[in-house]
Amino acid sequence: MIVCDKGLFTLHTNNTTYQMKADARGVLLHTYYGPRVADCDLSYRIRYVDRGFSPNPEEAGEDRTYSLDVLPQEYAACGMGDFRLPALELELPDGSRCADLRYKSFRVEAGKYALEGLPAFWGEEGETLVVVLEDAAAGVDVELYYGVLEDYDVITRAARLVNRGGQTLKVRQAASLCLDFQREDLDLITFDGKHVLERCPNRGPLLPGVRSVGSVRGGSSHQHNPFVILCERGAGEDHGLCCAAGLLYSGNFQAAAERSQFEHVRLTLGIHPWHFCWTLAPGGSFTTPEAVLCCSKQGLSVLSHRLHRAMRERLIRDPWAGQPRPVLINNWEATLFDFDAERLVNIAQSAASLGLDLFVMDDGWFGRRNSDTAGLGDWTVNGEKLPGGLEALVPRIRDLGMRFGLWVEPEMVNEDSELYRQHPDWVLQAPGRMVRGRQQLVLDFSRREVRNHVYGALKAVLSSAEVSYVKWDVNRSLAAVWSAALPPERQGEVYHRYILGVYDMLEQMRRDFPHMLIEGCSGGGGRFDAGMLYYTPQIWCSDNTDAMDRLRIQYGTSFCYPVCTMGAHVSAVPNAQTGRTVSMETRGVAAMHGTFGYEMDPSGISQEEREAVLRQTAFFREHQDLIFRGDYYRLSDPFQNGPYTAWEHVSPDKREVLACVVSGPIQGGPPLRTLQLKGLDPDLCYQAGGKNPLPGSVLMEAGWPLPLPWGDYQAWQFYLTAV
Ligand code: GLA
Repeated sequence: MIVCDKGLFTLHTNNTTYQMKADARGVLLHTYYGPRVADCDLSYRIRYVDRGFSPNPEEAGEDRTYSLDVLPQEYAACGMGDFRLPALELELPDGSRCADLRYKSFRVEAGKYALEGLPAFWGEEGETLVVVLEDAAAGVDVELYYGVLEDYDVITRAARLVNRGGQTLKVRQAASLCLDFQREDLDLITFDGKHVLERCPNRGPLLPGVRSVGSVRGGSSHQHNPFVILCERGAGEDHGLCCAAGLLYSGNFQAAAERSQFEHVRLTLGIHPWHFCWTLAPGGSFTTPEAVLCCSKQGLSVLSHRLHRAMRERLIRDPWAGQPRPVLINNWEATLFDFDAERLVNIAQSAASLGLDLFVMDDGWFGRRNSDTAGLGDWTVNGEKLPGGLEALVPRIRDLGMRFGLWVEPEMVNEDSELYRQHPDWVLQAPGRMVRGRQQLVLDFSRREVRNHVYGALKAVLSSAEVSYVKWDVNRSLAAVWSAALPPERQGEVYHRYILGVYDMLEQMRRDFPHMLIEGCSGGGGRFDAGMLYYTPQIWCSDNTDAMDRLRIQYGTSFCYPVCTMGAHVSAVPNAQTGRTVSMETRGVAAMHGTFGYEMDPSGISQEEREAVLRQTAFFREHQDLIFRGDYYRLSDPFQNGPYTAWEHVSPDKREVLACVVSGPIQGGPPLRTLQLKGLDPDLCYQAGGKNPLPGSVLMEAGWPLPLPWGDYQAWQFYLTAV
């Protein structure tokens, strides 16, 4: 619900309230974001005192208590006396870098707004508020967009800058979100890591100054995720105020939190200002990516439930929103580049005998791609490996009763490729420089002709047979970035234009192949963000398929992203990343914390393992809806090295529960533990197997006894139903 009353704007969701107010001078102040409160002007919380070295704008006259430096602002601009993190930095033709934003107008629209060419939450039932601010001297309007998805408890934001004046300006920084808190006792949680160990949570108190994470690698990155949480010091899974902010963007980003001198906190989130500079000609506009906000007073579990539901139902698009996904088998870890049609059909045959749904042919099927040194860019089938092309291969897979999927890496090119030999100027590369990553260069996706060429070739392949799935990969960071298509003064636009180009091609692919499932990937989880999820309903979580490491990666990922988005597979042992050996059962339980599938050659596995695969595939199919659409609870923190890692899925009506437990390395005389379940109906009785039913209150408070582990890394799944 949006309530507008003489410059006071209040946004209510079912459980949260957000408010801002244009003050007498037209400065838009942020008055509140938190648990839902009654309609009330909350600007009484803002106090005015004379602070030394906090300057005063001209209209303040002799009133030294009025300074932008201390006021909570809705969209802080630079240069006018607020020395904290800016949301907006403009450079005028005279070289000055000031922006002075004052309230101009507002409008309310039915439905949640969309952003042209950018990912965004959607929802006809939503509402949109646009508050327009202007910098009269610069001739710039800043339209602040707010999307309210009331039933989902999320609020989205974006900003659109419009140059209404007659001079060309430069946008040096334009955040998607600026959020001031009038308190300082907050922890910041970020999700950090590296290739093969992504999104590990890091939590710490905000100290005076700025703590920021971000990416300047061109993609959202393995190293930091464009999603952060600010929470009360004592907040935990089940209690305490938490506020999450995520960016729907897959390129360079920055999330920064500043604890200021007067013990307030400002959070900014948006495109990273490094190497960003957008030229805004008269009449031109620039739209930031969307940010999503979510708040919970009941701790991190509820925060995740709200985000998960909103992403599942209002970010992921049809036909995949809420739909079951195929159990797939991917040949990568089994074959790497070394395969031909017979080897693939052999793998598919044994996968089919295990009842798997979809066979994915990974890297190596195109051009002269026999290693990672050649072939990227040449999207035609390698006739030596696959005589007769997909036209010959795919019917053989389909005859086995399986669907077929394909790996692609459209954004990249090898120097050893026909594409590069014909168009060496199509790469993003500063003149006279050369930085390779995995032996490959990056195509300039900011250029339409480059995209058209690559897409034309891909479309021909995808149309040559029945392809039900595509894995869209990107396997290097961008460096020495420069576009031959832009003049020197506009090189600061390249990174963003590149991502817009990626989105454009993904959208085109979705349009042309509406029933094809696209899985995102970037050396595993290097581009696992809410922006990609708008185009690719699932993303390969990590190149690390070790079940025990995966428990950590998937745990960290779960704070923001729903289980149905996490690509997770059972792979062969010893694991290719860690050398660790874990049983088929445990690998299966870990992979069911995601889209579930296999990444191995099953023709060589033992009879016992075959039976385990048959069991777990049947189990996953039976419970996929509960796993994907139930409320997800983290029951333990795998980074604490406790004896068990546990999590739980509870159906929306609380009548079905799946609790999953994995033990760590064994030690002599292991303790006997009980597991306290969460989210049950205290008054319902739940039964597992033939055991006596127990009331929900008992299972949540007194707990469920766990079996004694025998050996390292055991796994159990307890499926309970209300009786
Ligand atoms: C990336 C992906 C892998 C695999 C390889 C192929 O690393 O994350 O799953 O597709 O590329 O080269």
